[in-house]
Amino acid sequence: MSAFRFTIDGVEIAAEEGQTIMEAADEAGVYIPRLCDHEGLRHQGSCRVCTVKSDGRSVAACTQPAAPGLVVENESAHITKLRRDLVEMLFHEGNHLCPICEASGNCELQAMAYRLDMTEPTKFPYLEPCRAVDASHPDIALDTNRCIACGRCIRASLDVDGKGVFGYIGRGIHRRVSVNGDNLADTDAAITDFAISNEVCPVGCIIRKREGFATPIGEREFDKALIGQDIEAKRDD
Ligand code: FES
Repeated sequence: MSAFRFTIDGVEIAAEEGQTIMEAADEAGVYIPRLCDHEGLRHQGSCRVCTVKSDGRSVAACTQPAAPGLVVENESAHITKLRRDLVEMLFHEGNHLCPICEASGNCELQAMAYRLDMTEPTKFPYLEPCRAVDASHPDIALDTNRCIACGRCIRASLDVDGKGVFGYIGRGIHRRVSVNGDNLADTDAAITDFAISNEVCPVGCIIRKREGFATPIGEREFDKALIGQDIEAKRDD
């Protein structure tokens, strides 16, 4: 496998053939924001929060292969604004009532908003979806009012659990996750599935019953550190 170098915001990044821009950046300790991408899942490239300029072209860093000599722009004002607008639209599309959501402090959408300096969405009308919460399963609940259509649960269930419990329904802004049955209890979803683990759903859409407040608010992952700081901690300079 051949090794080469390229730059992100002027920082030299070592990469190997076959790596995406994001994979090489992660290894080098350079954080590129992302929502639909997750380690261990195949790339989907749909949220576009990872958009970077690569040799002047807008690309999704999670799917775009790294290449020798690329000049990548990651944290410019222009790119940050674009990401903030995307995140803001997700807040408008769903019901993300952070102060009363049990995912608060563990939620990647909320954490991304903080990282991008978005404290309140202001640009668009709220769509205020009103979808029934599926609490039929003894151990799991599904509140798709909070779904951001990242597809992580779909890929986790299909590719890792080998089940295909989840899939998309709806189009455009109405697209959201649904289950392969009348309700969750009608599927073979289990609390031990990777798709149901706390790391897969980035928001409070898939809920593990009886665990919501095991860690008090204020002591959760993103209450203590900005999203992406674990990756940035790998930087040597
Ligand atoms: Fe790359 Fe979502 S993280 S498109």
